[in-house]
Amino acid sequence: MYRTHTCGELRIANAGSEVTLAGWVQTVRKFGSITFVDLRDRYGITQMLFNESLNSRLDETPLGREYVIQVKGKVVERSNKNSKIPTGDVEVEVMDFAIMNMASTPPFTIEEETDGGDELRMKYRYLDLRRPTLRRNLELRYKVNRSVRNYLDTQGFWDIETPFLIKSTPEGARDFVVPSRMNEGQFYALPQSPQTFKQLLMVSGYDKYYQIVKCFRDEDLRADRQPEFTQIDCEMSFVEQEDILQTFEGLFKHVFRDVKGVEITEAFPRMTWDDAMWHYGNDKPDIRFGMKLKNLKAEGRVHAEVLNAVDFKVFAEAETILAIAVPGAGEYTRKQLDELTEWVKRPQIGMTGVVNVKCNTDGTYKSSVDKFFNEQQLNDLAAFCGANAGDLILILAGKETRTRKAMSELRLEMGNRLGLRNPDDYKPLWVIDFPLFEHDEEENRWVARHHPFTSPKPEQIEWMGNPDKYKEIKANAYDIVLNGTEIGGGSIRIFQRDLQEKMFAALGMDKEEAQEKFGFLLGAFEYGAPPHGGIAFGFDRLCALLGGQETIRDFIAFPKNNAGRDVMLDAPSAIDDKQLDELQLIQKKA
Ligand code: AMO
Repeated sequence: MYRTHTCGELRIANAGSEVTLAGWVQTVRKFGSITFVDLRDRYGITQMLFNESLNSRLDETPLGREYVIQVKGKVVERSNKNSKIPTGDVEVEVMDFAIMNMASTPPFTIEEETDGGDELRMKYRYLDLRRPTLRRNLELRYKVNRSVRNYLDTQGFWDIETPFLIKSTPEGARDFVVPSRMNEGQFYALPQSPQTFKQLLMVSGYDKYYQIVKCFRDEDLRADRQPEFTQIDCEMSFVEQEDILQTFEGLFKHVFRDVKGVEITEAFPRMTWDDAMWHYGNDKPDIRFGMKLKNLKAEGRVHAEVLNAVDFKVFAEAETILAIAVPGAGEYTRKQLDELTEWVKRPQIGMTGVVNVKCNTDGTYKSSVDKFFNEQQLNDLAAFCGANAGDLILILAGKETRTRKAMSELRLEMGNRLGLRNPDDYKPLWVIDFPLFEHDEEENRWVARHHPFTSPKPEQIEWMGNPDKYKEIKANAYDIVLNGTEIGGGSIRIFQRDLQEKMFAALGMDKEEAQEKFGFLLGAFEYGAPPHGGIAFGFDRLCALLGGQETIRDFIAFPKNNAGRDVMLDAPSAIDDKQLDELQLIQKKA
């Protein structure tokens, strides 16, 4: 038997018993004739005491960091207790030990905080995973997975696997493709999601489906994106939007309670897409704090009357003018304001500057536009923005899309600076009534905002085929947003062939192309397709947020880096000529 106990298990009640432990050497500390070794495994750390009778053996083969050892000894109460670890009341007085494997010196420290840079940690991911921070993240991931499965099981969902070698699924990214040896010159695509399969399962009558499944998308990476990521993918038949929102609100409440001990009793707020864009500047609002956008001028209309009376060229010429009132920031110094100006000028934000108005506590104002606004006008402006004495008003002016995006970022930045974005404060919401289409300016055509299987609002179906109306058509689509991150999205689907054909046509696909790409689905809709709808959640994102972080990488055991590489495997990599030949592929020389 390799061990009787784990390194996280022994307590004062075990004092006096003989135990065998096995694990990795975390630290070796020598004090005169005795040596202390901290032994670590997945469960924790226990202190070993090697007394002088073992010195000659230790001198012969000194123990080094990360050696794998087995230790037999007696549990004793520690004189010098360590309240920071659960095993801190005891130590093991070593009677015998064996080195099971030696280890080279690890390239970085294996502790809570490490001195290893990102690339190094990724290269030696198996060592990085020994660190308690990552171990906790993976434990959390496992618990969320278990909790999701338990809930969906009680609701009657079946976990059904779907294939990975498929034909393209349109989710808006590029496909990863796999050449087929047996079918010369032909390729599979890896699924961007199991979307069409889950719909086919509904046609087959499996009316509550789920899967915790890998999805593959070849897109530019960010903190919350990986090329292969995991979804909790769900679909139901004979449901309306309300049924889906209720079922999965239940899932979230269950997971919060089960994994975090957080009880959310009230219903999740719902916000239309229009309202989210208007008040927050994006479709994934962080509602942990207010500071809503004030539309001084938007959609070509002036909403703050005061602007009519002010002769300020920048404002007169701007398509959109947005403001936020930052609570208690009226004391900002010149230096801080200059720094904010630099912040909005960064290429990611792309504004030329920011107008500021300080609302002094004595009721006066100090602004960067004093030349153009008199005191009364500043007062009117402050009233429109809902600013109080002591607040700072920040105003951005420019083109609609860019200004709204920039203001939404500035709002989040000010939220961060004021400490209003506490990761332990969970504020989920549903964003509903998304537009069905989006205009792709580059390609000058309409594309599906969600995906082509999403149904339009029933009362707007008659507008399908009339591109002048496409901007106005709303979808039966919804997203779930948690603390400013989109963690899930879904829709009620089209389930009739003629409407699905109209949708493909609206997206610029002719009948032949639609038949070639989606003939299987159109065909299935002719054999009794039930009304259905579903949703998919970003499992990695959910885990990261429950772990208090926005970056998903450390919640995935073996992630890719920002260039989509696995630096440990050194993948992707070239393949040899024999493989290329078998696949009938010729590599273009650079
Ligand atoms: P969607 O494309 O919105 O919907 O994806 C669902 C959720 O998956 C997460 N997600 C990602 N997470 C990490 N890395 C990525 N590259 C990545 N891309 C997406 C997000 C997102 O909300 N088939 C539809 C769902 C449906 O209609 O039922 C779909 O895939 O959290």
